[in-house]
Amino acid sequence: MLASERPAGSKAQVYRELVLMAEGLFRGERDAIANAANLAALLWMGLEGLNWVGFYFMRCDELVLGPFQGKPACVRIAVGAGVCGTAAASKKTIIVPDVEAFPGHIACDAASRSELVVPLLSGPRLIGVLDLDSPSRGHFDDADASGIEALAAHWVTASDSI
Ligand code: SME
Repeated sequence: MLASERPAGSKAQVYRELVLMAEGLFRGERDAIANAANLAALLWMGLEGLNWVGFYFMRCDELVLGPFQGKPACVRIAVGAGVCGTAAASKKTIIVPDVEAFPGHIACDAASRSELVVPLLSGPRLIGVLDLDSPSRGHFDDADASGIEALAAHWVTASDSI
């Protein structure tokens, strides 16, 4: 996807377009890792202003790094630690406008200034989290949270459990 082919318009329109593109990528494929890898790549290419996007999956009560785009990252995060572990513990989406103001933030990439973490839920079961980082403060808003939640729900529905 070239920058000129990125979905354009309001954030709601961009996320609607990304949902259609994700549905296309997931069609006929139920492997959770393959679909996660393609969703990470789609978000990396389709959204502006990110320096990291990727998955952490629940493994034996801790989060373990999954498919991502960006610099190499921390592999294991305890539930309750950092932004990802806090989202996992609460099973709630977290928008952090300034990571330096979030107690316990884990700095995998020193360039990150704001962060959005969405829990991946299959009913009540926590599968993992989808994490997006930006080098700009205040990059993520409620439209990003709703858009990423919709994409995360599509990934859960489209993929066999891992
Ligand atoms: N900042 C995250 C760690 C993961 S990286 O951003 C890829 C956190 O505080 O949980």
